[in-house]
Amino acid sequence: MSDTDLEAFLRRQISATGAMPVGEFMQRCVSAYYAGRDPFGREGDFVTAPEISQMFGEMIGLWSAVVWQMLGEPSEVILAELGPGRGTLMADLLRAAGTLPGFRQAIRVHLVETSPALKARQGETLAGIDVVWHEAIDTLPAGPAIVIANEFFDALPIDQYVYRAGGWHERMVTCRDAFAFTDGPEVSDRRMAELGAPEAKLGEVFEVNPAARRLVQALAHRFETQPGVLLALDYGYDQSAVGDTLQAVRRHQPVPVLQEPGLADLTAHVDFAALVRSAGSAKASPIAGQGSFLRRLGIELRAEKLAASHPDKAEDLLAGCHRLINPGGMGTLFRVLALSSPNLPDLPGFVS
Ligand SMILES: C[S@@+](CC[C@H](N)C(=O)[O-])C[C@H]1O[C@@H](n2cnc3c(N)ncnc32)[C@H](O)[C@@H]1O
Repeated sequence: MSDTDLEAFLRRQISATGAMPVGEFMQRCVSAYYAGRDPFGREGDFVTAPEISQMFGEMIGLWSAVVWQMLGEPSEVILAELGPGRGTLMADLLRAAGTLPGFRQAIRVHLVETSPALKARQGETLAGIDVVWHEAIDTLPAGPAIVIANEFFDALPIDQYVYRAGGWHERMVTCRDAFAFTDGPEVSDRRMAELGAPEAKLGEVFEVNPAARRLVQALAHRFETQPGVLLALDYGYDQSAVGDTLQAVRRHQPVPVLQEPGLADLTAHVDFAALVRSAGSAKASPIAGQGSFLRRLGIELRAEKLAASHPDKAEDLLAGCHRLINPGGMGTLFRVLALSSPNLPDLPGFVS
């Protein structure tokens, strides 16, 4: 569906059946947004960590190599990436994995991606590599697995609930001249407690990401019987809290979230505590800042080595590293969580 088709569809749908839950509105916008475009880079709407520096994917490659060793060096390991964008992280990861030939040979690459445009782009980036694409994690084959998700969970649709005198209401999107938020039906206190809603003041918003919760639950269930690990890196917060974090970005600038359905990147911060709760019996790492995680894996040393061997690019390489780990910037705003089979030792990059 094109962007203009989407806006017309949303208008028709809302006028036919009434206000639409925020989650459905976001799902339709995100799916239309990614379906036909490559939004990354200076010419696009936003930049992600793998597009800032090759060192990001390389560090995750080294991390995955150690995890493979912890899994007992299986002769085949599923290396799955959720929402792989341009395929840059995977390409950098595989190059770094080449330093441990046994690991590189064991890797079977699986990409979970719904956007036709980005699937094509990933195919170009990973030309010459055997890749299997999936629409969802359900079709990943059985076996030991390392699953990587960078800026994936923040693109999954969230439901919002707003606290009014007397109780919680689902937040909906209606359409008069323009799209606007409105209160939907009241939701019972019991249901809100099940969702993990904290105490709230009048007008405060609580967000739930049902798709992220289901996905983590399914992976945790898988890791009970098949050894595996999920590494999730995303913009987010460590403790469940109230707050409206739905945001839209276009050409690197914030824009009103309902203004241009399907034309702007819609995201919401990830509630990492909710992911840990959904993981049930899986072992959860502490939640780390991206900066400390990457520093523990040795990114600064790697940056210095790369800069020394490419003096013409030294400034850019060091700047890229700094941007990824900068406290107050990506180094702390991005959070990192690993979930694993219960019997695995503590994973690298985290301090217990
Ligand atoms: C913000 S981009 C992150 C890309 C990449 N991980 C990176 O760091 O550059 C989000 C990615 O998730 C994909 N995506 C969004 N919703 C998805 C879904 N429900 N299932 C699978 N992929 C999805 C998008 O097409 C895109 O590849």
